[in-house]
Amino acid sequence: MKITIINGPNLNLLGIRETDIYGSQNFESYLNSIRSKYPKIKIDYFQSNVEGEIINFIQNSRDSDGIILNAAAYTHTSVGISDAVKSIECKVVEVHISNTYSREEFRHNSFLSPVVDGIIIGFGLKSYDLALQSMITDE
Ligand code: DQA
Repeated sequence: MKITIINGPNLNLLGIRETDIYGSQNFESYLNSIRSKYPKIKIDYFQSNVEGEIINFIQNSRDSDGIILNAAAYTHTSVGISDAVKSIECKVVEVHISNTYSREEFRHNSFLSPVVDGIIIGFGLKSYDLALQSMITDE
Protein backbone atom coordinates (compact mmCIF):
# COMPACT_ATOMS: atom_id res chain seq x y z
CA MET A 1 0.00 0.00 0.00
CA LYS A 2 1.31 3.44 -0.93
CA ILE A 3 0.06 6.61 0.74
CA THR A 4 1.22 10.07 -0.29
CA ILE A 5 1.30 13.00 2.11
CA ILE A 6 1.33 16.44 0.50
CA ASN A 7 1.91 19.55 2.57
CA GLY A 8 1.43 23.08 1.31
CA PRO A 9 3.00 26.45 2.06
CA ASN A 10 4.79 27.21 5.31
CA LEU A 11 4.37 23.68 6.65
CA ASN A 12 8.12 23.26 6.14
CA LEU A 13 8.35 25.54 9.19
CA LEU A 14 6.42 23.27 11.53
CA GLY A 15 8.06 23.24 14.94
CA ILE A 16 9.23 26.83 14.50
CA ARG A 17 6.16 28.61 13.11
CA GLU A 18 3.32 29.76 15.42
CA THR A 19 4.01 26.91 17.85
CA ASP A 20 1.01 27.91 19.99
CA ILE A 21 -1.18 26.84 17.05
CA TYR A 22 0.86 24.17 15.27
CA GLY A 23 2.96 22.67 18.07
CA SER A 24 6.69 22.32 18.51
CA GLN A 25 7.37 19.14 16.54
CA ASN A 26 8.81 19.38 13.04
CA PHE A 27 7.15 17.35 10.31
CA GLU A 28 10.15 15.17 9.48
CA SER A 29 10.28 13.78 13.02
CA TYR A 30 6.51 13.18 12.99
CA LEU A 31 6.85 11.46 9.61
CA ASN A 32 9.52 9.14 11.03
CA SER A 33 7.16 8.19 13.85
CA ILE A 34 4.27 7.29 11.53
CA ARG A 35 6.59 5.42 9.16
CA SER A 36 7.73 3.33 12.17
CA LYS A 37 4.14 2.82 13.30
CA TYR A 38 3.06 1.54 9.85
CA PRO A 39 6.14 -0.30 8.53
CA LYS A 40 4.21 -2.11 5.79
CA ILE A 41 2.86 1.09 4.24
CA LYS A 42 5.03 3.08 1.87
CA ILE A 43 4.51 6.67 2.90
CA ASP A 44 5.71 9.21 0.33
CA TYR A 45 6.04 12.82 1.39
CA PHE A 46 6.14 16.07 -0.54
CA GLN A 47 6.06 19.67 0.67
CA SER A 48 6.02 22.80 -1.44
CA ASN A 49 5.36 26.49 -1.02
CA VAL A 50 4.48 26.71 -4.72
CA GLU A 51 0.90 26.14 -5.91
CA GLY A 52 1.83 24.72 -9.34
CA GLU A 53 4.27 22.24 -7.80
CA ILE A 54 1.51 20.94 -5.54
CA ILE A 55 -0.80 20.55 -8.55
CA ASN A 56 1.93 18.66 -10.45
CA PHE A 57 2.55 16.39 -7.48
CA ILE A 58 -1.15 15.61 -7.05
CA GLN A 59 -1.36 14.66 -10.74
CA ASN A 60 1.78 12.52 -10.44
CA SER A 61 0.45 10.75 -7.32
CA ARG A 62 -2.60 9.35 -9.09
CA ASP A 63 -1.24 5.80 -8.67
CA SER A 64 -1.20 6.11 -4.84
CA ASP A 65 -3.73 4.21 -2.76
CA GLY A 66 -4.53 7.48 -1.06
CA ILE A 67 -3.40 11.08 -0.73
CA ILE A 68 -3.37 12.97 2.57
CA LEU A 69 -3.50 16.63 1.57
CA ASN A 70 -2.84 19.62 3.79
CA ALA A 71 -2.84 22.43 1.24
CA ALA A 72 -2.41 24.93 4.12
CA ALA A 73 -3.30 28.49 3.01
CA TYR A 74 -4.07 27.31 -0.55
CA THR A 75 -7.01 25.39 0.93
CA HIS A 76 -8.83 28.69 1.19
CA THR A 77 -7.84 30.13 -2.20
CA SER A 78 -6.94 27.53 -4.81
CA VAL A 79 -9.35 26.52 -7.55
CA GLY A 80 -6.33 24.94 -9.29
CA ILE A 81 -5.63 22.49 -6.46
CA SER A 82 -9.33 21.71 -6.18
CA ASP A 83 -9.46 20.94 -9.93
CA ALA A 84 -6.35 18.73 -9.60
CA VAL A 85 -8.06 16.70 -6.86
CA LYS A 86 -11.14 16.36 -9.07
CA SER A 87 -9.02 15.16 -11.97
CA ILE A 88 -7.67 12.05 -10.21
CA GLU A 89 -9.42 8.86 -9.17
CA CYS A 90 -7.52 8.02 -6.01
CA LYS A 91 -8.91 8.71 -2.56
CA VAL A 92 -7.98 12.11 -1.08
CA VAL A 93 -8.38 13.11 2.57
CA GLU A 94 -8.05 16.81 3.48
CA VAL A 95 -6.30 17.40 6.80
CA HIS A 96 -5.58 20.41 8.96
CA ILE A 97 -3.49 20.52 12.10
CA SER A 98 -5.52 23.34 13.66
CA ASN A 99 -9.29 23.63 13.88
CA THR A 100 -9.74 26.08 11.02
CA TYR A 101 -13.37 26.68 12.05
CA SER A 102 -12.30 28.10 15.40
CA ARG A 103 -9.98 30.58 13.68
CA GLU A 104 -10.41 33.59 11.37
CA GLU A 105 -13.43 33.54 9.09
CA PHE A 106 -11.33 33.36 5.90
CA ARG A 107 -10.17 29.93 7.08
CA HIS A 108 -13.75 28.63 7.22
CA ASN A 109 -13.95 28.27 3.44
CA SER A 110 -12.22 25.33 1.79
CA PHE A 111 -12.09 24.87 -1.98
CA LEU A 112 -11.06 21.27 -1.26
CA SER A 113 -13.74 20.04 1.14
CA PRO A 114 -16.42 19.64 -1.58
CA VAL A 115 -14.14 17.50 -3.76
CA VAL A 116 -12.30 15.26 -1.27
CA ASP A 117 -13.41 11.91 0.15
CA GLY A 118 -13.06 12.96 3.79
CA ILE A 119 -11.83 15.68 6.10
CA ILE A 120 -9.90 15.55 9.39
CA ILE A 121 -9.39 18.86 11.14
CA GLY A 122 -8.00 20.05 14.45
CA PHE A 123 -6.20 17.10 16.05
CA GLY A 124 -2.71 18.50 15.73
CA LEU A 125 -0.23 16.35 13.83
CA LYS A 126 -2.34 13.35 14.82
CA SER A 127 -4.75 14.48 12.06
CA TYR A 128 -2.37 12.82 9.56
CA ASP A 129 -2.39 9.52 11.46
CA LEU A 130 -6.19 9.59 11.64
CA ALA A 131 -6.37 10.19 7.89
CA LEU A 132 -4.01 7.28 7.31
CA GLN A 133 -6.13 5.03 9.51
CA SER A 134 -9.21 5.94 7.46
CA MET A 135 -7.41 4.66 4.39
CA ILE A 136 -6.27 1.41 6.00
CA THR A 137 -9.78 0.62 7.25
CA ASP A 138 -11.06 0.92 3.70
CA GLU A 139 -8.64 -1.68 2.38
C1 DQA B 1 -3.53 24.73 8.18
C2 DQA B 1 -4.63 25.76 8.37
C3 DQA B 1 -4.54 26.84 7.31
O1 DQA B 1 -5.57 27.81 7.49
C4 DQA B 1 -3.19 27.55 7.41
O2 DQA B 1 -3.08 28.50 6.38
C5 DQA B 1 -2.06 26.62 7.44
C6 DQA B 1 -2.16 25.36 8.15
C7 DQA B 1 -3.53 23.67 9.32
O3 DQA B 1 -2.98 22.61 9.10
O4 DQA B 1 -4.05 23.93 10.40
O5 DQA B 1 -0.97 26.94 6.95
O6 DQA B 1 -3.76 24.03 6.97
